[in-house]
Amino acid sequence: MEMMKYVNKLLLVAVVCVGLFPAQQLSAQKNKSFIPGEVWRDTDGNLINAHGGGLLYHKGTYYWYGEYKKGQTILPDWATWECYRTDVTGVGCYSSKDLLNWKFEGIVLPAVKDDPEHDLHTSKVLERPKVVYNKKTGKFVMWAHVESADYSKACAGVAVSDTPNGEFTYLGSFRPNDAMSRDQTVFVDDDGRAYQFYSSENNATMYISLLTDDYLKPSGRFTRNFIKESREAPAVFKHEGKYYMLSSGCSGWDPNIAEIAVADSIMGTWKTIGNPCTGPDADKTFYAQSTYVQPVMGKKGAYIALFDRWKKKDMEDSRYVWLPLFIEKGEITIPWHAKWDMSVFDKKKK
Ligand code: DGJ
Repeated sequence: MEMMKYVNKLLLVAVVCVGLFPAQQLSAQKNKSFIPGEVWRDTDGNLINAHGGGLLYHKGTYYWYGEYKKGQTILPDWATWECYRTDVTGVGCYSSKDLLNWKFEGIVLPAVKDDPEHDLHTSKVLERPKVVYNKKTGKFVMWAHVESADYSKACAGVAVSDTPNGEFTYLGSFRPNDAMSRDQTVFVDDDGRAYQFYSSENNATMYISLLTDDYLKPSGRFTRNFIKESREAPAVFKHEGKYYMLSSGCSGWDPNIAEIAVADSIMGTWKTIGNPCTGPDADKTFYAQSTYVQPVMGKKGAYIALFDRWKKKDMEDSRYVWLPLFIEKGEITIPWHAKWDMSVFDKKKK
């Protein structure tokens, strides 16, 4: 009898535990679809933390690098022009074979805690890290927007690593071509040349700057594009010999309308086509902002557009909006999908 009571108690405890920790159970399940704007967990069951990020495909694996935002959001201090931000934690890295299930590889460029003057000190700002691989040097090179808390620094920071999952060595920051550099991305062309795209001249004009062969510095060759058009959040890709740049307007952490532009030559001239987003809230980019466009390997003509849905009062809980991008006869669309998977590319565009 006593024994039965004991077994019953044990059973009760087990039932309560299962009820209390469903998230842990769920986390073991594999993601089968993209659900834009929803909570997205890594393979350990933790929230994915890689904002303003970019992807790198290397030897059969995708790597996702982004701002690892931890802790309470610091509210703006208008007296000092300090904006919404979190303390810098560093750049997080995740790896995946299928773009849906991501393993946390660690913080590959950590913040610096003990030197308040350092670019990566927790009190500063680090945004929009992008990593490219240099075939000649065999190095992984990271470019990021490195800022002061009052957003007056406007510099690019560069770091380098022998492996995609770090740890990266920080080389320092500068204003490329002696011009301000805020929102930015790096694109490697088929010929191995790399270019940094960055919002400059107080975000009014987009600079496109050819990098040196080692990708560590600007080569000195650059062009000014979208002059006084205030484009931010550039995401660049190439399709059938043409270059495309997806970008946002300039409204802080609040959403605005996206634009796509096309060029025959990467340094310009660029021609704006219009807003590629379609569906509900397409004029607000689905309440998100572009950060990267990734070709799906092995699926010709299939691209994924990556956006951030910023939560400016709780930056850590900002969400990811990943959507399929279609190109048909030169027309680009990014239709809203509440839930989707790769089979979307096998069907006709919606
Ligand atoms: C918009 C940019 O795209 C973000 O990366 C960030 O710099 C915010 N502005 C800051 O307000």
